Amino acid sequence: MKKGLFITLEGGEGAGKSTQMAFVQQRLQDCLQAVGRHLQVTREPGGTELGERIRELLLDHRQAVMDSDTELLLMFAARAQHLAQLIRPALAAGDWVLCDRFTDATYAYQGGGRGIAMSRIAVLENWVQGDLRPDLTLLLDLPVEVGMARAGDRGELDRFEREQRAFFERVRQTYRERAAAEPGRYHIIDAAQGIEQVQAQIDIALTPLLAGLA
Ligand code: TMP
Repeated sequence: MKKGLFITLEGGEGAGKSTQMAFVQQRLQDCLQAVGRHLQVTREPGGTELGERIRELLLDHRQAVMDSDTELLLMFAARAQHLAQLIRPALAAGDWVLCDRFTDATYAYQGGGRGIAMSRIAVLENWVQGDLRPDLTLLLDLPVEVGMARAGDRGELDRFEREQRAFFERVRQTYRERAAAEPGRYHIIDAAQGIEQVQAQIDIALTPLLAGLA
């Protein structure tokens, strides 16, 4: 059924994800346009009207008492809608999909960060996604203290951004373990480097996919 390609971008706090999302989008769009194909750019949690409403609940720092299981299930509720309404139809039509975070973030934040068993997350992943997994995942990786210092001067912090350093260390550790376990899908980008070096690494990761378009 799937004909397009599914690319995800992941990273911790202050890794420059927004800047690099824009770069990846531009790079993919230029190449896809040349061969008459489309790129859908989206994000999680969110990506649909319902998903964006769930996102508001998830990020709202006034929801200080949200249970971890509730948080996990809301992530997958938003994801189920996103898959049904946007991701699966786009891929079936042959479009490429670029998504700002996906299920790797659930393993990292709800699994690593909150301590929910990875096996529980895997059950939900299999249920909601079937065998759909990203074709390529770019992980913007950098030491937590560097990321937190970079992110420090942002405005009002959301519910996740209010977490302590130890939480983000577990998030990073989980991302790195997952990347090491699946080297064929993951590409680790050293995000502590300057913007041009980061983009050069991203280009290297995208090249094999884009070569397949020619
Ligand atoms: P963003 O700031 O990259 O848009 O992501 C919103 C927050 O949601 C971020 O702190 C990570 C968190 N998140 C999870 O905890 N689990 C998930 O499955 C996803 C997709 C995001």
